[in-house]
Amino acid sequence: MKILLLNGSPRINGNTGTALNQIIKGIQFNVQEAQIELFNVADLELRGCTNCDSCRKNDGNCVMTDDSFKIVQKIVDADMIILGTPVYYWGISSQLKTVIDKLYSKENQLRQQKKKFGVIAIGEASLDDLEYKLIGSQFECICNYFGWSLIFNKSICAFEAGDLTEDKIQLQELESLSVYINRENGF
Ligand SMILES: Cc1cc2nc3c(=O)[nH]c(=O)nc-3n(C[C@H](O)[C@H](O)[C@H](O)COP(=O)(O)O)c2cc1C
Repeated sequence: MKILLLNGSPRINGNTGTALNQIIKGIQFNVQEAQIELFNVADLELRGCTNCDSCRKNDGNCVMTDDSFKIVQKIVDADMIILGTPVYYWGISSQLKTVIDKLYSKENQLRQQKKKFGVIAIGEASLDDLEYKLIGSQFECICNYFGWSLIFNKSICAFEAGDLTEDKIQLQELESLSVYINRENGF
């Protein structure tokens, strides 16, 4: 199983990076035959979708001369995608949203693929804040639209860049998410 983890934070070594690395730890320990790739979305040179629809006449490839093709192809090739995002004003980071919008170029292909999906949203606000429900609902809708299974939707509370590294309870919860991945993998 090819597992692609996308870090949607521009603060590469911040809480989102810590969370994704902790999930990887769990996957390496629990999930057999996993090919893991962690990718920092902030490293991409990407411009937003303009709805020019040129991709529809270009074999499903975005015509922008940026990293659109590269990131969309990584998503096409993955069996499971795990998105990590900091909460920015009750939503996901703009860097990650730009990637999601680029899926438009390959909608036909992506809607035929049975992918597994996981989301982690990390904010300063306590876990009962509406922002986590909003982000979870957004990805429920996106997964329903593509016909993919949302196998986990996890909220984490952390603020300063190093906060999560000190939080043993939330780190353990993140590591344990590999249980859901294993279940999907037939174990
Ligand atoms: C532009 C901006 C907007 C933010 N908006 C929110 C918000 O609406 N809710 C929240 O809980 N935290 C908000 N935060 C705090 C971040 O979500 C929080 O610090 C998170 O841990 C950052 O993750 P990172 O360390 O991976 O970058 C915001 C931070 C920034 C920079």
